[in-house]
Amino acid sequence: MKAYETYLLDRAKVEGNHQLATYRRLGGYKALEKVLKGGLTPAQVVDEVKRSGLRGRGGAGFSTGMKWSFMPDVAKDPRPRYLAINADESEPGTCKDRVLMERDPHGLVEGSLIAAYAIQAKAVYIYVRGEYRLPHDRVAAAIQEARAAQLVGQHILGSDFSCEVFMHKGAGAYICGEETGLMESLEGKRGHPRQKPPFPAQSGLWNSPTTVNNVETVFNAPFIVERGAAWHAAIGTANSKGNFLCGISGHVNRPGVYELPFGVTAREILEDKAGGVWKGRQLKAWFPGGSSCALLKGADIDVVLDHDSLRARGSSLGTAAMIMMDDQTSMARVMEVIARFYEHESCGQCSQCREGTQWLSQIFHRIAHGRGQADDIDTLESLAKGMAPGKTICALSDAAAIPTLSAVRLFKDELIACIREQRDPLAAPAPKYATVGAH
Ligand SMILES: Cc1cc2nc3c(=O)[nH]c(=O)nc-3n(C[C@H](O)[C@H](O)[C@H](O)COP(=O)(O)O)c2cc1C
Ligand code: SF4
Repeated sequence: MKAYETYLLDRAKVEGNHQLATYRRLGGYKALEKVLKGGLTPAQVVDEVKRSGLRGRGGAGFSTGMKWSFMPDVAKDPRPRYLAINADESEPGTCKDRVLMERDPHGLVEGSLIAAYAIQAKAVYIYVRGEYRLPHDRVAAAIQEARAAQLVGQHILGSDFSCEVFMHKGAGAYICGEETGLMESLEGKRGHPRQKPPFPAQSGLWNSPTTVNNVETVFNAPFIVERGAAWHAAIGTANSKGNFLCGISGHVNRPGVYELPFGVTAREILEDKAGGVWKGRQLKAWFPGGSSCALLKGADIDVVLDHDSLRARGSSLGTAAMIMMDDQTSMARVMEVIARFYEHESCGQCSQCREGTQWLSQIFHRIAHGRGQADDIDTLESLAKGMAPGKTICALSDAAAIPTLSAVRLFKDELIACIREQRDPLAAPAPKYATVGAH
């Protein structure tokens, strides 16, 4: 792998960086100072981020500057405006935001404040996955320290900009990571996604203009403000700019969260960072960006990791959470586990999703447990096609359908063999239990 400049995880590696003194010693809050004391207007910050080519890291990869520019004109719309930070991080395989919150919480606070300034939000709500206790506590402590140092609250750094930052804990529901489910939950209601339009920028939290951004997305803002749009736009590939955090997990020697520039290949990450497939085995299949994107075969490992290259392979970058599976993995079992997750997490508002996820789960379960039926593959395919794309209120239905369609396309023979033999040849042998009196 070619040498490259890192910045996202540099401070995270320094002991004590979660505390304000260390963060400041490492240059923290300089970008916020540049914005507020250097006289940058909100429109200039939006423009800088637009020109940097930064794209959202929450899964969809939408242009961040463009999203910020969708907020209505302050002069024409007097409603309060909000920024919601999506720290729900519940997509299977994804664990990058956790590292940022635990080890660089002030980086998130500073990034959130710059984003809030750009969209002229009067408050930031950081919605944290309920199971993330340490990340929650670290960010909450950072907010307190920042408030005491006049970095949060009224007249930040003596400027005209005032902004409060609040934390909110989720309660373990994946659907509350979907941006409109998140807003419902923040408002104290059940996390049921809302029909769009209206989009959050028009009518979000408490019917006011709202921007929802992922943790890693806003974490990038201080670097862009300090070093400039051109610096950021010079890293990466044509339509995917900057460095990104890749969480690689599954059957690898060194799972973890690594910082990489867009444009590296998946093989480079697997071999140079994660130490290759474990136990000397071969790679059979992998998810490039969490369990909601289409599976790829092991042979596709030389694909470049960026939005365009993965789309060209029929998958997507998602949250850049690579889940690697070795050649002894049962795809029926993998899909059984994934389908059960989506069945459990569907909020039930849309019939395609509520019924579809249940059926996918039941069918993969029976295939994996030697009770598959002759027409199961066709049923899986027609069910998944009825669930996506864009047929439901939110994209959870798509998230269940997309991996299903890829599994049926890429591993049909293996699934058919499970049905024909009425057993899963790759299933782990059943554990042997000693029975009473069998000594
Ligand atoms: C079911 C579902 C779950 C999601 N979970 C998350 C999540 O945990 N974190 C996140 O940032 N985005 C999640 N998203 C994407 C958000 O809806 C939204 O696109 C994202 O927060 C926007 O931030 P960005 O533009 O900075 O990427 C989820 C989407 C869906 C459909
Ligand atoms: S697609 Fe599924 S999770 Fe999303 S709103 Fe409809 S039922 Fe709920």
